[in-house]
Amino acid sequence: MKVTVVGAGAVGATCADNIARKQLCDELVLVDIKEGVAEGKAMDLMQTAQLEGFDTRIIGSTNDYSKTAGTDVAVITSGIPRKPGMTREELIGINAGIVKNVASSILEYSPNAIIIVISNPMDTMTYLALKSTGLPKNRIIGMGGILDSARFRYYLSQSLNCSPNDLQATVIGGHGDTTMIPLTRLATYMGMPVSNFADEASLSKVAADTMVGGATLTGLLGTSAWYAPGAAGAMLVESIVRNERRMVPCCVYLDGEYGQKDICLGVPVIIGRNGWESIVDYKLSEEEQAAFNKSADAVRNMNAVLDTLSL
Ligand code: 2OP
Repeated sequence: MKVTVVGAGAVGATCADNIARKQLCDELVLVDIKEGVAEGKAMDLMQTAQLEGFDTRIIGSTNDYSKTAGTDVAVITSGIPRKPGMTREELIGINAGIVKNVASSILEYSPNAIIIVISNPMDTMTYLALKSTGLPKNRIIGMGGILDSARFRYYLSQSLNCSPNDLQATVIGGHGDTTMIPLTRLATYMGMPVSNFADEASLSKVAADTMVGGATLTGLLGTSAWYAPGAAGAMLVESIVRNERRMVPCCVYLDGEYGQKDICLGVPVIIGRNGWESIVDYKLSEEEQAAFNKSADAVRNMNAVLDTLSL
């Protein structure tokens, strides 16, 4: 197995760190455009091999994609992160060109790769990667819902004073401060509805905090988060390379599912060796479906901006 992570910034390097520690591949390539950064981070990570006990060989490359040849799974984290007060959507002008070029460079050397998109605005970058490469839809997966669901469980665990590991909770829709949909109705604490353990006001606050989870961290850190985004990317890689068939919310191309067409948006999918293998129908309530449609409208407006950029 060979995995490539493009973008050796905080998210990319953390993702690579998690992939190596979990020993998900024999070879891991880190690519960045900044001279020496990918080589430096790869060397630093390799020096943890004996400390962490992994055998994955990590190599760095300054923009030389020939080193990525034969990649099974590629993770795109390239682009600029948001600063405090910025939305993910404001990054589109700069990140669209970067993501398009990276996706085509990966496929030039690894035509069979499965591509994971983390760069923001993630839903639109996933759509762009799919449209610009023409890859079969199951091989392009946007990572947002796994991260948002991890944040949902974090806030729920704080509210219920319990372990996040005993919670099941999912966020669907877009990966934006106003487009995410935490599915509180379906969230459970060891199989019991969370509404048995917290009142409506507390659960509404949990959902609201989840939606701005990334913005809260950006405010604290001065740039966007990396530990959970990197770990969430690695979890997705794990489900692919180990063919785990995990059910996780990911941004995938919808062709009528959840009432939407020609858009990439977060829905529960089964992730295995072929990428996303099927979409699971949560049978949304009327209110949830209305929120999903509203989220789709916002993402569609953002996708339309792609036509105004010279890519
Ligand atoms: C986040 O939500 C980076 O979009 C990512 O933290």
